Parts: sequence; C-alpha cells; structure tokens
Amino acid sequence: MGRILSGETIAAEVRAELQARVAALAQRGIVPGLAIVRVGDDPASVSYVRQKDRAATGLGLRSQVFVLPSGVGEGELLSLLGKLNRDPVFHGVLVQLPLPPHLSPARACAAVGPAKDVDCLHPENLGRLVRGDPYLLPCTPRAVQEILLRSGYPPAGKHVVVVGRSPLVGRPLAILLSQTGPGGDATVTLCHSATPDLAAFTRQAEILVVAVGRPGMVAADMVRVGAVVIDVGVNRVEDPTSPRGYRLVGDTDFEALRSKAAAITPVPGGVGPMTVTMLLRNTVAACEAQTQDAR
Ligand code: GUN
Repeated sequence: MGRILSGETIAAEVRAELQARVAALAQRGIVPGLAIVRVGDDPASVSYVRQKDRAATGLGLRSQVFVLPSGVGEGELLSLLGKLNRDPVFHGVLVQLPLPPHLSPARACAAVGPAKDVDCLHPENLGRLVRGDPYLLPCTPRAVQEILLRSGYPPAGKHVVVVGRSPLVGRPLAILLSQTGPGGDATVTLCHSATPDLAAFTRQAEILVVAVGRPGMVAADMVRVGAVVIDVGVNRVEDPTSPRGYRLVGDTDFEALRSKAAAITPVPGGVGPMTVTMLLRNTVAACEAQTQDAR
C-alpha cells in the first residue's frame, strides 16, 4: 500500500515557518496585504477564494476580496487592478481564474503589477521563470515541488511525467522541475490531450503528476509499481449521499493506484491546501520585497 502524502500536514509545517516571518514584519509595523479579485459567482471559484481569504486571515495577513459582477466590462476590471497596484496596503494581487468568456485572462493577468503578482502569471514573471531567474514561483507548481521535496522524493535525476499543459499548472511545472538546482534537475515529459498512447508515457514515470481536470482518468494500469503520484485534479462528482450533493475527486483512480504507487496525494487534502499555502508564502515574500527599503 502506498504512503498517503498529506498536503494538510506539509502545509501546516510551511505555515509555521511563515508565522516567524509575519511576526518579524509585525515588529516593523507591517502587515502583508492580499487583494483577491473574483468576477462572477462560479461555485468552484467562490469556494477557492473563500479558502484563500480564510487562510490569509488565519496567518495574520490583511486579506480583502473584491467581487465584480459576471457582466463587468474589461475597463472596469483593469481599472480596479490599477487601483490595487497603486494601493500600498496590498503587497499581493490576484485575479481568480477562470474569468467569464468575454474577459481576456491574459490581459487581466498582465494588468497585475509584476511586484504584486503572487500568482506568477504576469508575462514578466513567467519570462523570469523560463529564464531560470524567478521572482515568485507559481503556486500550484511550487506546491507540487514542495510536496515532493518535503516528503523525501526530490525530482533530481528522476523521470517526471506531467499530464496536462495548462498555463496555471502543467506547463510551468515542467519548467520548474527541469530547472538546474535543488527541486529541479528532473527529466520531464509533458503529455497533453493530443498525446497519442498516453499510457505508454505515464508507465515510464518515476514521478507522475496529473493536472487535467477529468475524474479518474488515470487508471492503475497506467502507472508503474513504485511510482510517486501527485494528483492535482479537483473534480466535483455527483453524490446524493453527500449533504452537498457532490464530492471531490482527483484525476486518478486513487484506491486502485494506491496499491501500486510508493506514495500518492489524496483529493481533497493533497495539493489543494499546499497551493493556498504557497500563495500565502508569495504574499509574505512580496511584502518583504516591497518593504525592504523601509528598514
Ligand atoms: N483558478 C484555479 N487555480 C487558480 C490559481 O492558482 N490562481 C488563480 N488566480 N486562479 C485559479
């Protein structure tokens, strides 16, 4: 039976480290501030934003959620982001994705000032990541990397297969794990919806990361014995026995994979809590960077 890698436990460890940094800032009269912009009422986004806001407040940060109606014009969204960029109370600004279809996520992400871009989605920060000179690291890819490192599975020298090429997870993760140095030095194969015979690739993985958004798409016969499996998917599936009418599952057939894998992250309680914690860490780091000269 594979080991279960609890994102909750690792996240608590990282939060304890962050508490010391927040306390040091407090001694200088500084409270890290996070502005979260949500457009519309997509149920998953409402839930994610609530989690981020609560986690930030729980760590002693100042967090504020700005909600715009789903029909808001691009001008109004960009004008709010401009205002938040200029507001010294906020050291981090993020736009929750996805946006309604009439709004361009690329333009919204580019409108967040690079210094406050705690999601690492601004072109300048993405460019720095690709160049190997990152400012802040993207939250979910960094969450995956931290889970591997802190659980004793450094990716160096391993064949990592990433399934999913989204700009939020798969593509930046492939870049991060293939970089030179600690947490990197992996040989990375990036698979996606146009990959023929996906299983032929996933079976080669010493570390398999799945970030596709399709419940149970990776079955046990697609994984080699002893692999480390990181399941990034968070999918709502109908469940009349649950009070909410649904339950959350990942992209892998968890129970079946567990009997073959050396270790696997659960859903919920795996990558999700670590992603939120990486956002907190980026906010603290952005605050430290922006208040450096005020010492
Ligand atoms: N939607 C799903 N994941 C994320 C994330 O990490 N950041 C933002 N901004 N939106 C998301």
